[in-house]
Amino acid sequence: MSSVTVRVPAKVNVQLSVGPLREDGYHDLVNVFHAVSIFDEVVAKESDSITVQINGKWADQVPTDDNNLAIQAARALAKHAGRSYGADLVIQKDIPVAGGMAGGSADAAGALVACNELWGLGLPPEDLMEIAGDLGSDVPFSLLGGTAVGTGRGEQLSELPTGGTFHWVFAPANGGLSTASVYGECDRLREVSGAQVPWPQLNDSLMEALGTGDAYALGSNLSNDLQTAALTLRPSLASTLDAGRQHGALGAIVSGSGPTCAFLAIDATHARDLAQSLTATGAAHTAVAAHGPVHGATLI
Ligand code: C5P
Repeated sequence: MSSVTVRVPAKVNVQLSVGPLREDGYHDLVNVFHAVSIFDEVVAKESDSITVQINGKWADQVPTDDNNLAIQAARALAKHAGRSYGADLVIQKDIPVAGGMAGGSADAAGALVACNELWGLGLPPEDLMEIAGDLGSDVPFSLLGGTAVGTGRGEQLSELPTGGTFHWVFAPANGGLSTASVYGECDRLREVSGAQVPWPQLNDSLMEALGTGDAYALGSNLSNDLQTAALTLRPSLASTLDAGRQHGALGAIVSGSGPTCAFLAIDATHARDLAQSLTATGAAHTAVAAHGPVHGATLI
């Protein structure tokens, strides 16, 4: 096989509950991931070394050196297989960069699935999941997709059945936010407030809304413990969220560590109208309608 293509979705967190800071610098989470129909495509081609090329409107914001998560993923897979394989990775990026939608994690997951196929390794999903967890907290979910609860750092996943399709609008911001700095700001704000940080708990009403496919109930149960920190670092997001609510969004939330804003719509038509209103009024410079849940990293 000389070339393999994998499609990988973005994610939004419909619940992101952040526990106290751990000694290893991470936080224990209850992280309800939901994969949505904004995709990166990772093509892996036979080569002597491991390289990456990025295409698309976000290309100039993605590193192509050792900091690139897809390169790290291909190297980790080769190491796991005990051989010095090569692959030229070409990534078509549609997922916002540093946007809180797991774009880097998606590319890592795509590289794992693509190189597993290109190199004929035939590793089972459990092995890929283990390598994924070492690459980043969100990479295992990018492999799995659908809707799932992540505990631990977010890498220990249990799949959640959902009772229907949910329709969303995503408004990426100009300029990303670093995940580590948003968690750091969350810790700082908590320290200033002096309040005890509770152990994260799964929201039962949210589970029920997902299970029955009730968009109204899901909208009123969306929550993100990183949102206050993201809004402190990027105050302009507050007016974007407000505009979405005014245009009838059932829920408006910062996606993960942000700065992308996520709006839950009533149906596909409402999502299209909402995206149009957000851009027409200048509340967002771009807005994309999408749906979820969708499959994780998939060979095409
Ligand atoms: O795992 P990943 O490399 O994606 O995490 C990026 C950063 O986000 C970590 O270095 C850490 O600062 C923060 N993080 C955290 N707790 C988690 C996941 C991420 O503090 N559960």
